[in-house]
Amino acid sequence: AIDISTLRSKTGYITIDEGFKNTGSTTSGITYLDGEEGILHYRGYPIEELAEKAEFLEVAYLLIYGELPTKEQYEVFKHEVTTRSLVNEDMRKIFDGFPVNAHPMGVMSSLVGAMSSFYPDNDKKHKGDFTEVHIRRLLAKIPTIATWCYKKSQGHPINYPKNHLDYCSNFLHMMFALPVENYEVDPIVSSALNKLLILHADHEQNCSTSTVRLVGSSKANIYASISAGISALWGPLHGGANQEVIEMLEAIKEDGGDVAKYIAMAKDKNSTFRLMGFGHRVYKNFDPRAKIIKKAADDVLAKLGVNDPVLEIAKGLEEAALKDEYFVSRKLYPNVDFYSGIIYRALGIPTNMFTVMFAIGRLPGWIAQWLELRKSGQAIGRPRQIYTGPTKKHYVDIDQR
Ligand code: ACO
Repeated sequence: AIDISTLRSKTGYITIDEGFKNTGSTTSGITYLDGEEGILHYRGYPIEELAEKAEFLEVAYLLIYGELPTKEQYEVFKHEVTTRSLVNEDMRKIFDGFPVNAHPMGVMSSLVGAMSSFYPDNDKKHKGDFTEVHIRRLLAKIPTIATWCYKKSQGHPINYPKNHLDYCSNFLHMMFALPVENYEVDPIVSSALNKLLILHADHEQNCSTSTVRLVGSSKANIYASISAGISALWGPLHGGANQEVIEMLEAIKEDGGDVAKYIAMAKDKNSTFRLMGFGHRVYKNFDPRAKIIKKAADDVLAKLGVNDPVLEIAKGLEEAALKDEYFVSRKLYPNVDFYSGIIYRALGIPTNMFTVMFAIGRLPGWIAQWLELRKSGQAIGRPRQIYTGPTKKHYVDIDQR
């Protein structure tokens, strides 16, 4: 076997680092992450403080523009986002063509890609300030599209946005209001959603963000880049894990709650089963977001008076894994997705929407990273490879093969 860790090509050395475990793709001034110490800062501000005190759109502004907004800046920004929450009615025609059981992540990535046709760069109305308008449109319209998916799955008519509501309350209104009743947004629910979105807002060069940057590096437009990011997030090893966690916890419950059996399965190298919501590429001590979310899950369930047996299974699994040599030696701890699904469930959000919720939260990070990349003038991303296929062959006529 050849050592392919570093091989010389005609143009110089090529380093192989599958999964980019030790390869930086960029410098960045957005998010600071210390995986050993479990530290996460957005633009210098600790995630704990932001999750406790800030509003999601305020954090979006911080990530995108580099500093917390003043009161005046925030009012203008909120107004500019809120007043763009309607989606072009012609996009509804595309949406109507999706099957009723289409996964909302597939619908979301398609419709965000379609936005580049509805809102092209040469939009003369905005006199060159194109990116700014696109940023506000994305922040405004993605939650609206997400609620369309839910309403369609329920067979209900969609709700139009109510611009006097804040970002999270407006989302909840579009999700849950019915024409027949006077729906009031519960402030506990809205504040829990605000916290979850903030905790997901950026996480430096993860799979979906790196995808957004790589696509953006070819100078593809922001909608195309973010649509690609949504697709990358969908995978069960990334954002799709939050859906898989709840499905796993439910399966354990249905199976009699035997946590030890599932721990054993996860350790078995002949099995492909992994404990979803455990492990992280960068956090090798604890995930600071998971700490906040675990407490939030307890609070929200208590405040809403929800008694969810799945929470008990989750706690049992965490306890057992933290005592188990396999998980301890590999530094596998619950990640942000382990408890987020439990909160989403308590808020009434269906399981197949969990990853969409993650996408709504991650959107400001994707936008900030895309802008940083574009402003830096970084070269197009184009990794190399070491070729391991056959050596030169000659074409053989089909009747002689
Ligand atoms: N259950 C059981 N074993 C695991 C798990 C798990 N959840 N995660 C990692 N391991 C084991 C691996 O089998 C491997 O064992 P080995 O050394 O004996 O071969 C070792 O731990 C290292 O795992 P890798 O897959 O090499 O670690 P990597 O950094 O590539 O993967 C990842 C990280 C993808 C998050 C992984 O831990 C995983 O699959 N977790 C479950 C899915 C999940 O929760 N994803 C969400 C991540 S957070 C986010 O995207 C927001």
